[in-house]
Amino acid sequence: MKWNSCFKNNIFGPCFRRILNICKCKPMKKLFLAMAALATVLISCQSDRSTGPTDLAKNSIIPKPVSVTSTGGTFMLTRKSDIIVMPGSPEEVAGIGHYLAGRLNPSTGLGLKVITDGGKPGKGDIQLVISEADSTLGDEGYELIITGKLLTLTAAGPAGLFRGIQTIRQLFVPEIESDTVQPGPWTIPTGTIRDWPEYGHRGEMLDVARHFFSPEDVRRFIDHLALYKMNVLHLHLSDDQGWRIEIKSWPNLTAHGSKTEVGGGEGGYFTQEEYSDIVKYASERYITIIPEIDMPSHTNAALSSYPELNVNGKATEPYTGTDVGFSTLDTRSETTYKFVDDVVREIAALTPGQYFHIGGDESHSTRIDDYIYFVNRVQDIVESHGKSVTGWDEIANATLKPGAVVQYWARATNAIKGVNQGAKVLMSPCKYAYTDMKYDSTTVLGLSWAAYIEVDDAYNWDPATLVPEIGREKIVGVQAPLWAETISTFSEAEYLIFPRLQGYAEIGWTPSDMRSWDEYRVRLAAHGKRMEILNIGFYRSPLIEWDQPDM
Ligand code: ACM
Repeated sequence: MKWNSCFKNNIFGPCFRRILNICKCKPMKKLFLAMAALATVLISCQSDRSTGPTDLAKNSIIPKPVSVTSTGGTFMLTRKSDIIVMPGSPEEVAGIGHYLAGRLNPSTGLGLKVITDGGKPGKGDIQLVISEADSTLGDEGYELIITGKLLTLTAAGPAGLFRGIQTIRQLFVPEIESDTVQPGPWTIPTGTIRDWPEYGHRGEMLDVARHFFSPEDVRRFIDHLALYKMNVLHLHLSDDQGWRIEIKSWPNLTAHGSKTEVGGGEGGYFTQEEYSDIVKYASERYITIIPEIDMPSHTNAALSSYPELNVNGKATEPYTGTDVGFSTLDTRSETTYKFVDDVVREIAALTPGQYFHIGGDESHSTRIDDYIYFVNRVQDIVESHGKSVTGWDEIANATLKPGAVVQYWARATNAIKGVNQGAKVLMSPCKYAYTDMKYDSTTVLGLSWAAYIEVDDAYNWDPATLVPEIGREKIVGVQAPLWAETISTFSEAEYLIFPRLQGYAEIGWTPSDMRSWDEYRVRLAAHGKRMEILNIGFYRSPLIEWDQPDM
């Protein structure tokens, strides 16, 4: 009998006896038996792994999908796997295929190619299909049918495919996120996932004004928003401590106003080219950038750059502290409106999204009638540049334009005023959704004026019942702001953002009656390793048993 036929035919008994006979002495026999025992253990481990998980219902996907049905089998990526784009699909779909290949190839080393020439899908392939047949999926929904042979992702449009790809990523073991080749095998359970978001707006806000973060940091953050199916990044681009976007018609905003930050660091700003690159990078991940220029208060960086914007005509000193509400534009000067018009015009021209955020918060040194006059005029300017207005909840004290969105952060009475004018509300309640709040009294970074927000507090609230007067139909979604007074590096930002972000992503995506903290915390535990591999410097909340296995 040939040795390799022993293995091929699994006829180990005769082979085993033959080797033992050949081993002449006792120590050789012992050594052989020990090696055989080790081989048995290794082979059985290997066959466990190659079988892979078979119950799709036992996934740890965040946000939790709307519907999951398991069929008890296994799908496996192999060297023969490719990504098949149906002929006739919009061009963007091939781009999504390449994004998926870019996510899977570095860790699997399988070299999946994107096939667009009508080749028939074969065993182990991933097929991307655009079809409007299933209207329940909407713009961002998707259906994933996984059989032992094929993984078929269907959506009404590219955004739905992109969201579905994040589910595919999360179905594989966390090592799929590695940028070096890992052993695999790359198996996932079979079944069907049908999934779509509860809210159309699911986002984070990043304050680049109190401390500046580089375009690379912002892009990396966009990648992490994408993994959790978030679709908005709101950039807080100006405040008392710094102006962070190039405005060509008012160059001193960056020549002077960008050079400071909280605590006296060097600041910085995005050139228009860098900002456009961020917008493009986000849009390739189906994420919309909402730019914010905060006014009439939170404007010291502008007031110190241009004396003519001040009530007394004198430039202020640069500011690197953390007080709020002391600055105001001159709301009765036409120069101010020329300034606002130029700023909104230049930024709107670089921003494809619908909304322009005008800030409007904490204008403690602006008289209320001046504030209302200002917000009303600025809304006209925003509309004249083709954008809809959004702003912090104080803007509801003015006469809101149809289509305005009020971002509720502090005062429910303001948000209700907005609703009574027909506005929709974006939910960012500071007690639950401010990621600059400390987790508990021992957290070194962050603030605590609104609350301590542990990971369960961040998860255990429902936008649709938080303010009884503001029902589900008035709410566009959920956004978690990160204010940057206390953080100066992006790893510090990540420590405050993660793992609360996953909770906000789930609140925005998953219907509230499908959410439960006890079940969520187990799924979140499985994301510890994924975040580690992605080098996300997250907070290891003691409420989560991070070492649990992934599936
Ligand atoms: C805010 O936190 N001042 C909107």
